[in-house]
Amino acid sequence: MSAPVTSPLEAFEALATSAGRRDPYPGYEAIRAHGNLVRLKPGRLVAVGHAECARALREPKLLVQDGDSYDITFPSWRTHSSLRAFTSSMLYSNPPAHHRLRGLVNGAFTPPKVAQLRSVIEDMVDRLVDHVADAGAGGSPVDLIAEFAARLPIAVISTMLGFPERDQVWFRDIASTVAESTDGFTDPAALARADAAMDELSAYFADLLDQRRRAPADDLVTMLAQVHDAGDGRLSHDELMGNLMVLLTAGFETTSFLIGHGVLLALDDQRHAHRLRTEPDFAAGYVEEILRFEPPVHITSRWAATDVDLVGTPVPAGTKLVLVLAAGNRDPRRYVEPDTFDPDRRNSQPLSFGAGGHFCLGAPLARLEARIALPTLLRRFPRLAIGGPIQYRHRLVVRGLDALPITIG
Ligand code: HEM
Repeated sequence: MSAPVTSPLEAFEALATSAGRRDPYPGYEAIRAHGNLVRLKPGRLVAVGHAECARALREPKLLVQDGDSYDITFPSWRTHSSLRAFTSSMLYSNPPAHHRLRGLVNGAFTPPKVAQLRSVIEDMVDRLVDHVADAGAGGSPVDLIAEFAARLPIAVISTMLGFPERDQVWFRDIASTVAESTDGFTDPAALARADAAMDELSAYFADLLDQRRRAPADDLVTMLAQVHDAGDGRLSHDELMGNLMVLLTAGFETTSFLIGHGVLLALDDQRHAHRLRTEPDFAAGYVEEILRFEPPVHITSRWAATDVDLVGTPVPAGTKLVLVLAAGNRDPRRYVEPDTFDPDRRNSQPLSFGAGGHFCLGAPLARLEARIALPTLLRRFPRLAIGGPIQYRHRLVVRGLDALPITIG
């Protein structure tokens, strides 16, 4: 085999260039040419292997970036409201706070609880398909992301949280803007936009919480307001805001990108579209393969609280680990022909929802939404076709289709 032409650091930095953002997969392979867990520079490792990412996600000595770690890497983080909110949420907390925060809402997201939402989700999908039929009547192109794929996850989580339906279109923009703060701290303008969006969202939450205090309902906002107001240390004000923000935002773009790619891949290969229309059991494996092949979340990170051995590599305390989940999903040691989209793979276990203590709380929900949405949409529109230029979101962390114009024939 010829020697790799770039160093791991050069390959990694190239991911942030416009070519790297457009198509990061060659960059992931350029890193993999050096190994599945490689040193980028002192104090920084990158994992591109399936086993290495999976192990790191489950290793208790490897922590998520929290306020303490930002004090070292980005000392001014407290001046950013978006980062203050993220670091107060379960996503950016470590035990014991993480167990306490996740434990408050976990019960609402278990697979059996989510399964009970099936008929609610089916109704929502039917209504949204009707909406696409109206918008696309007479052959007009419809942006399937804006009119369908983004609306479904917003409608579902808003119902669970207890957010009014009228605000759901506004959530899409605001959630997307807040999420910009998670894309590294390289762009001060993006961070400023994320802060402004978070301030708007906080004011909105404060108002809604007051409404629920006056008129309690059977929803998560009411429950979280009551836990906070008990004042027994289970949920501080910042944690309440941070968790509402993460619950609201974590599933929007991710699930809409999952559905968007699912439609695109079915239109690329009509055999998949046909099977989604006709084989009721096909959707589950199809959705797992979209998750593996085009994961909405490409990268996450951890840092070593103490010295730790990771699959034979010593990781000194203080090291930051970049975990490229999307590269692990294409690890040739784990997957036969990893660059081929094959919905018939079995036991695939992609890394797309993470693993270990922070395993995606919304995974059963996202899976169920996609498994219902894709066959329903394709059955309803047998002549569904691409109707204009597709727009991609070329971010490093959360990636997917921003616009997918279609015609329904
Ligand atoms: C296809 C859709 C989705 C993808 C690809 C996805 C991906 C992920 C990933 C990779 C993580 C772990 C991050 C880490 O360990 O560093 C995560 C965590 C999380 N996700 Fe999702 N997610 C999706 C949908 C959802 C939905 C629908 C919700 C709705 C509630 C949600 C809520 C969360 C929360 C609250 C966490 C933090 C869990 C914790 O820290 O304990 N996600 N997600």
